[in-house]
Amino acid sequence: MAIIYALANQKGGVGKTTTTINLGAYLAKLGQRVLLVDIDPQANATSSVGIDKHTVKNGSYEALLDMDNGAPNILTNPKLKISILPSSPSLAGAEVELVDELARETRLKRALESISGRYDYILIDCPPSLGLLTLNGLVAAANGVLIPVQCEYLALEGLGQLTQTIERVRNVLSPDLQVRGVILTMFDSRTNLANDVVAEVQRFFPNQVFSAIIPRSVRLAEAPSYGLPISVYDPKSTGAEAYEALANELLAQDNQTS
Ligand SMILES: Nc1ncnc2c1ncn2[C@@H]1O[C@H](COP(=O)(O)OP(=O)(O)O)[C@@H](O)[C@H]1O
Ligand SMILES: [Mg+2]
Repeated sequence: MAIIYALANQKGGVGKTTTTINLGAYLAKLGQRVLLVDIDPQANATSSVGIDKHTVKNGSYEALLDMDNGAPNILTNPKLKISILPSSPSLAGAEVELVDELARETRLKRALESISGRYDYILIDCPPSLGLLTLNGLVAAANGVLIPVQCEYLALEGLGQLTQTIERVRNVLSPDLQVRGVILTMFDSRTNLANDVVAEVQRFFPNQVFSAIIPRSVRLAEAPSYGLPISVYDPKSTGAEAYEALANELLAQDNQTS
C-alpha cells in the first residue's frame, strides 16, 4: 500500500502545487513510485507536468463523481517518472455535485484503494478551500496532511481553522488522521520577517516543521510553464536543492516509522 499524503492549506498561493510536483519529482528520483492526484479545479498540478487540462478524460472528476466510468485514467510521463491522476475544468462543479452524493467525503479514498498498491507514494494536491474536495483529500490521506506555509506576514492566519477541520475529520471519518508535517515555503533569508515567521510556525507546530525550508526562487516559479519539475528544469538551483532535501527528509522519516 502506498503512503498517502494530502497537501492542504485553504490559503491560495502558499506552495501546495509547487510542493506536490517537486517533492513528488524528487521522491521519484529516489526510486519511489509516485502518483500525484490533482483535485484542484484549477488543474495547476496537471499543467505543471505538461498536460493540457482540456484534453483530460476520466481524471479526478470522474474518480469522484462518475465511478462507474471505469478505471481512472492515470497518465505517466516516462521521462519524469511520475504518474498523475489529472484534474479537468469539470471538477469546478464537483463541490456542488458531491453534496447530494452518498459517501460524499470518502469518494477519493475509495477511488485510490484499487490503485494504491501500484505506488510507494501518493500526493494529493488540494484546492485552496475547505470544501468537499479538500475533505475528500483529507479523508484519503491515510498517512497524514502536509501543510505548506508561506513565510509571509499572517502566515499562521487560517491555520487554526485548518487544524480544526483536520480534527473534525479525525473525530467523524478518519480516526488516524494527523498533521504529518509543516513545510515552510518561499523563505527569503534577507528579511527579518521571514525568520520571525519560521520561529512563529515552529512554536505553533512544535516538532512538526520539516528542517528543509523552501527558499523563494524564480526558477521554481518558471518551471511549470515548461511543464517540468525543478529536478529537470534547473536541478542546481536553490529551490531544487531544498525540495531534494525535503524528499530525503520525508523518506528517511517514513522509513523509520514503517
Ligand atoms: N519557493 C517559491 N519561490 C518562488 N515562487 C514560488 C515558490 N513556490 C511557489 N511559487 C509560485 O507561487 C505561486 C503559488 O504557488 P502554488 O504552488 O501554485 O500555490 P498553491 O498551490 O498553494 O495555490 C505560483 O505562481 C508558484 O509558481
Ligand atoms: Mg495549487
